[in-house]
Amino acid sequence: MEKIYIIEHTPSIFGNVKVSGSKNATLPILIATLLCNEKCIIDNVPEIEDVKTTVELLLACGAKVNWNKKEKIIEIDPPQDCPTIAPYKIVSKMRASILVLGPFLSKYKRALVYLPGGCSIGPRPINLHLMAMSKLGAEIDVNHGYIKSQVKDRLKGTTITFPKKTVGGTQNAILAAVLAKGTTIIENAAQEPEVVELVKALRQAGAKIEGEGTSVIKIKGVDELSSFHVKIIPDRIEAGTFLGLAATIDGEITIKDAPICHMESILKKFKEMGLEMKYDEYEDIGTIYVKKNKRLKGIEVSTEEYPGFPTDMQPIVMAACLKAEGCSVIRENIFDNRFVHVNEFIRLGANISVEKNTALVHGVKKLTGAVVEASDLRAGAALVLACASAEGKSYLLNVEHIERGYENFEQKLALLGIKIEKILKKEEELEKLRKIGK
Ligand code: EPU
Repeated sequence: MEKIYIIEHTPSIFGNVKVSGSKNATLPILIATLLCNEKCIIDNVPEIEDVKTTVELLLACGAKVNWNKKEKIIEIDPPQDCPTIAPYKIVSKMRASILVLGPFLSKYKRALVYLPGGCSIGPRPINLHLMAMSKLGAEIDVNHGYIKSQVKDRLKGTTITFPKKTVGGTQNAILAAVLAKGTTIIENAAQEPEVVELVKALRQAGAKIEGEGTSVIKIKGVDELSSFHVKIIPDRIEAGTFLGLAATIDGEITIKDAPICHMESILKKFKEMGLEMKYDEYEDIGTIYVKKNKRLKGIEVSTEEYPGFPTDMQPIVMAACLKAEGCSVIRENIFDNRFVHVNEFIRLGANISVEKNTALVHGVKKLTGAVVEASDLRAGAALVLACASAEGKSYLLNVEHIERGYENFEQKLALLGIKIEKILKKEEELEKLRKIGK
C-alpha cells in the first residue's frame, strides 16, 4: 500500500500554525551523540521519518535511545563500543547517514559506510566529506559500494579548505576534528544555522570550537566529550513553506515559533512579491502574521548558500509564483537537477520553461487539479500548495517523501482550512491513477 494525498481546491485559508523543530538541525546533533561518553538529551525533536531513520542508525551503533514522542524529547546513551557500520538499508533511505563517518573515525578509528546511491535533486557526491577525512589522516578505500576507512593512531588536526561550500561536509569535518589531535581550521565552511547548532551542542559537551556561523571554523581537538542537553531550533524551511502557502492562497494566517532570525532572505522575497507580513524583526523566534487578498507579483530569485535564499525553498517559492502576475525568474545555483517538480507544476496548468539552471515562470490565472508525483521532500510540499490552489481535485503520489521532513503536515494544513486527506492505495490502483493522469 502507498500513501497518497487527495487535495481539493481551497479558496482561502485562516488560522494558526506552529513550526516544529528543524529536521536538518536535529540529524547531525543526534549523530553527534556518538562522540559523547554520557547521556545526551535533545528537546523539540520533530517526529518525522528522517529522525526515525537516524534513531535506527544510532541503535545499530549500540546506542540506547529513549524517545518520548509526546514531550518531543530524545535521551541517548552513547554506545560503549560501536560496530562502526552504517548499513546500506539505512544509508539508502537517508543520505545524511554519511555524517557518521566523522564520529566513527575520530572516536573509534574505523568506519564502514555504504554509499547512498541516487537522489532526485542531483548527483550529490560525497567527495568533499572524503577529502576532509583524508586531510585529517584517515585512509580511505571506496570499493564495492562502500567506504572503508581507518586511522592508525588518531586523526590529526590540519587545515581543510573546501573548494565549494558544503553543509554536510562542514558538519562531518567538525564531527571528526573535535576529537582529533591538535588544531583544525576549516576554510570556506558552510555558515548555515544548522552548522552553528551542531557546534553549540558539541561545545556543551566540552569541544573547543570557534568561528561557527563564519566561513572559518577553528577546532582544538580534545580527548573526550561528556554530554549535552539542547533544544532544537524551529525549522526555517517549514516556516518558509507556510509563508509559501500564504503567498499561494488568499487568507490570513499566523505562523508561530518561526525562526525569524534565520529567515531574512526568505521574508525579503515574499515581501517583494507583495505578501503582507507583520513580525518583530528583532525577535529570534516569534510570530509572523501573514495576509493575502490580492494577486501577488512575480519575482526574481537565485538560490545561494546561507544567508542567501535557500535551495530548499526554491520549489516552494516557485509554487507561490505559478499564479503571480508577470514572469518570475528562478535560478537554482546549489543543486544540478532541482527542477524535477517543474513538469508536475505544468501538469497542473503552470506555464514554465527551463533553460539550464533557470526557470521562467509565467504567471497563469488558474491551475487545474491533476495527478502529480512528489520527487523529493520539498518538491512534494510545494506540490501540495499548488494542488490546493488548483481548481478541482488533485492526487499527489509519493507522500512518503513529505513525511521524511514535515511533522504532521496534513494535520497542520487541515487546521488552516486546506482540504487534504491522506489515503492508502494499492499499487494497481496507483497505476490506474497514473494512467488517468498521463
Ligand atoms: N557537494 C559536493 N561534494 C560533497 C558534498 C556536497 O560536490 O562532498 C555539493 C552538492 O552536490 C551540492 C553542494 O555541494 O551541489 C551543496 O551540498 P551540501 O553538502 O551543502 O548539501 P547536504 O549537506 O548534502 C544539506 C541539507 C539539504 C540542503 C543542502 C543545501 C541536510 C540533512 N540536508 O544537504 O536539505 O538542500 O544542505 O542547503 O542538512 C532537505 O532538507 O530537503 C535537503 C535536501
